[in-house]
Amino acid sequence: MHEIRSPIVAVLGHVDHGKTSILDAIRESRVASKEAGGITQMISASYVSKQDIENLSRGLAEKLKVKLVVPGLLFIDTPGHEAFTNLRERGGSIADIAILVIDVNEGFMPQTAESINILKRYKTPFVIAANKIDALSGWNKQDTKSFLESFGKQREDVKAKLDEKLYSLVAKLGEYGFNSERFDRVSDFSKEVAIIPVSAKTHEGLAELLLLVAGLSQRYLEKELYIHKDVPAKGSIIEVKEEKGAGTTIDAIIYDGVLKSGDEIYFLTNSGVKKTKVRALFSPKPAEKVVAAAGVKVIAPGLEGAIPGSPFAVVGESVEEELKKQFKKIVFESSELGVYLKADSLGSAEALISLLAERGIPIAKVSIGNASKEDVLFARSIAEKNRYLGAILVFNTRTPREVLRIAEDERVKVIENNIIYRLVENYEEWVKEEKEKEKKEMFAKLNYPARMRFLPGCCFRLSKPAVFGVEVLDGKIKPGAKVMDKEGNVLGEIKSVQEKKETLPEACQGMQVAVSIDEVVLNKDICEGDILYTYLTKEEIDLWGERGELLAEDAKFALEEIKKIILKKRIEKK
Ligand code: GTP
Ligand code: MG
Repeated sequence: MHEIRSPIVAVLGHVDHGKTSILDAIRESRVASKEAGGITQMISASYVSKQDIENLSRGLAEKLKVKLVVPGLLFIDTPGHEAFTNLRERGGSIADIAILVIDVNEGFMPQTAESINILKRYKTPFVIAANKIDALSGWNKQDTKSFLESFGKQREDVKAKLDEKLYSLVAKLGEYGFNSERFDRVSDFSKEVAIIPVSAKTHEGLAELLLLVAGLSQRYLEKELYIHKDVPAKGSIIEVKEEKGAGTTIDAIIYDGVLKSGDEIYFLTNSGVKKTKVRALFSPKPAEKVVAAAGVKVIAPGLEGAIPGSPFAVVGESVEEELKKQFKKIVFESSELGVYLKADSLGSAEALISLLAERGIPIAKVSIGNASKEDVLFARSIAEKNRYLGAILVFNTRTPREVLRIAEDERVKVIENNIIYRLVENYEEWVKEEKEKEKKEMFAKLNYPARMRFLPGCCFRLSKPAVFGVEVLDGKIKPGAKVMDKEGNVLGEIKSVQEKKETLPEACQGMQVAVSIDEVVLNKDICEGDILYTYLTKEEIDLWGERGELLAEDAKFALEEIKKIILKKRIEKK
C-alpha cells in the first residue's frame, strides 16, 4: 500500500543569507547562534509536522486556500550549495522542492546564482525566501508570523521600498529564465516562482513560507510523494563523519521505504560497491527503524570509504548492479584525451561532468578525493598529447602543497574552485590565455616587416660577408631575417646587426646600423641608396595581417610595401 510521505525540502542560498536562522525560526530553537562562526557545521535534517505548520499559520490556510495533506515537511539545511548536489538520485535530486534564501538587502550574490543554476540543472521546483525584511530601514516589526498582516501595517514608503527590492530580485531571476512575483500576486504557481518576504529574526512571513512550500509540494508533486512503507529503504549519503566511540558514520536522507537496525546496505566507495550491516540508527534519537522521508545517522562497521553523494540501499535483487552502473557513470577513466576531474563527492562530480559535457570539454578521468602525485603524472601524459587538456580540475578538496609543487615542476595546470560554474569558467579562461600566449610566442618567432636604405658612403666590406650601413626606415630588422630588393629577389640573410661595433639583437625605425650578409656582393647585387626589405612568406604576411594590433604603425607600412612586392612577383611568375 502506498501513502504520501513528507516532502523533502532543501534550503539553500548564499553564505549568511539566513538558511539556518530560517530553519531555527521554524523549529523555534536557536541552533544558529550556537554554531561557531555561524557557519553550519553539519547537515541537519529537521522535521516539521503538519500540526506544527497548522499551529504556526493559524487562519492563513483558509485564506490562501491550502488544505494540508502531507504529514509534514522534512527540511534539509545545506552548509554550502555543493551539499545540495549530494541529495542526488541518478542525475536528479531527492529534494522535492527547495527554498532559495536571499538576503533582501544584499540581493543576488555568487552562491545565489550557483544555487539557481543547480536547481535549474536538477529541475527542482523552488520558492524564494526574501529574508531579513526586519532590517529594511523603517520596518515596523509586528507581532505576527504572517507577512501579509505585517505588511498591511507598514508605512507606504516602506512598502514601496520592499517592493523595489523585490523587483530587483525579479529582474535578476529573469536573467536566469525564471518569471517570478511576490507570492500574493502570482496567478499561476506552475509558471511563476513565488517570492515570500520573511524575517528569520522576527518570524514575520514564516506562516506564508511554510504554507506555500507545503501547498506547492502537495499540489504539483503529489504522485512523486507516494511511497511504499514496507519496502527496503533507498537513500542518499549526504556526509561521512567520524563520531567519537562510533567510528565512521554516515548522515543520510531516506526518500523511500524503511530502514531497520540490522539491515544490510550497499553503498559506494572509491573502489566500487561495498556492503555493511546497520548497527544503530539515530533520527535524531535512537530508533529501531526509520521510515521515509527522514534524515538518519547510520552507525555500521566499514563505512570508512563511503563517498558523500553516494546512493545507498538495503540489499536486495538488482541493487548491487544498479549501484555499480551509477558508479561507473561518474567515476571513470576513458581512453580519450581530456581533463582530469577531482571532486569531493559523487554529487559534485556528477554536476561537473554534465556541465563539462555541455561546454564540449572532454574528460579523461574522474575520481573522488584529494589530488595525488599519480594524478599529476596522469595529467602530464595527457598534456604531452594536448597541452590544453593537461589540467586537473579540483572541486572542493584540498590539494596537498607537495602535489602542487610536483604539478608545477611537471607543468601540469591545477585549477581549484569551490563553485562548480567558476571552476569550469576558470578552465576555459586558462585555455584562452594559453592559446593567446602560444600565439604571441609564435609571432615572436615570425620574421618582422622592415624597410631599410643602404646608406651612401657606408660600404665597409664588399663580400663574404658584405658589411654595409643601413638606415631602418620602417619596422625592425633582426639577425636571421632574409632581405630582398624592390623586385622581390631574395638577396641573403642578415648575419649580424651592429652599432658602433656593438652587436644588437635588433634595430628599429630611425636607427643607422651596420649589417653583415654572407651571400651579398656590394655594388653588384645592391648599390648605395637602394631600398631593401625583409622578405616574408605569404603565410607570414597573412598572419601579420590577421593580428595587425601586434605591429607598430611604421611596421604596418613596411608590411603593406612588402605585400605589394610579393604579390607582384607572384603574378609575374604566372
Ligand atoms: P551559512 O550556513 O554560513 O551559509 O549561513 P546561513 O545562510 O545559514 O545564515 P545564518 O542563519 O547563520 O545567518 C547569518 C547571519 O544573519 C546571522 O548573524 C543571523 O543572525 C543573521 N540573520 C539571519 N536571518 C536574519 C533576519 O531575518 N534578520 C536579521 N536582521 N538578521 C538575520
Ligand atoms: Mg547555515
